[in-house]
Amino acid sequence: MTPSLQLDAQGRLSHLLTTEGLPRGLLERLLDRAEPYAKAAEAGFKKDPLLTGKTVVNLFFENSTRTRTTFELAATRLSADVINLHVQASSTAKGETLLDTLKTIEAMQADLFVIRHEASGAAHFFAQHAAPGVAILNAGDGRHAHPTQALLDAFTIRRNAPPREGRRHMRFDDLSVAIVGDIVHSRVARSNIHALTTLGVKDLRLIGPTTLMPSGIEQLAKGIRIEHDLMRGLDGVDVVILLRLQKERMVGAFLPSLGEFHRDYGLTAERLAQLKPDVLLMHPGPINRGVEIAGDVAYGARSVILEQVKHGVAVRMAVMAEILGTAQ
Ligand code: CP
Repeated sequence: MTPSLQLDAQGRLSHLLTTEGLPRGLLERLLDRAEPYAKAAEAGFKKDPLLTGKTVVNLFFENSTRTRTTFELAATRLSADVINLHVQASSTAKGETLLDTLKTIEAMQADLFVIRHEASGAAHFFAQHAAPGVAILNAGDGRHAHPTQALLDAFTIRRNAPPREGRRHMRFDDLSVAIVGDIVHSRVARSNIHALTTLGVKDLRLIGPTTLMPSGIEQLAKGIRIEHDLMRGLDGVDVVILLRLQKERMVGAFLPSLGEFHRDYGLTAERLAQLKPDVLLMHPGPINRGVEIAGDVAYGARSVILEQVKHGVAVRMAVMAEILGTAQ
């Protein structure tokens, strides 16, 4: 095994920065590791002593509801001490650099940083400069990567997709998955492309208008198909992952109007009715109701959007346990 920034010479996870290049066995191990945490929480047993004495620091330079909260819950349930740095009220507002922020909090003997930043590469930068033994988890960097979102998406698919006829368990290899919408701005799309194709998905369709489709993205992995017509792209799929239209990242005229996007690409009840009856409807959130998804299907019978949120806790526990913990 060649060491990389996120894998050591033995192939163990030291940081989690991207799903790109992670071996299938490691992805499956993280999903397996999340399962007992999810089951225990569902049975009402939420606390685990594994990370007692460890310190986890959440550094969110960009807004978040789901990721920040579930990382905090995950660390708390593993009995770590958790610090949430309020970035707007911190010395970064006085001009303190990312590096000095890292070094300052490291001096307080933090063991793990969870970082979200608008700059692609910010988590990578932290990992390059972190002291030995200090772990960095990427909670979303620019358009680049959101690896724990991809893991919780894969976990949600694994728990909900029915097995193909004749099989006892579902296999990612059997699935057709569509990712729909604002691919160009989406770190979730990139991380899902790497994770799902590594886990075995052979039919992965990216659907959206040409202005929101980065050129060459089909070369990221085998089996990617680009579609610009929504219903042709969704024909026969098992899983639909809708993406949030990232209005805050729209620096130019990517779209004529939100209404036109909804007309061409919005998932409505009428369109959902034309898909496979057991299709899974996913969205990383936050959703734009009436844009990429109609309000009445967001939490409808085929939606697993709130399960994705719930699974964020178990999956983030699994990642922290894998990096900082010893038990398995
Ligand atoms: N999915 C996701 O990253 O949501 P938040 O921005 O609320 O964390």
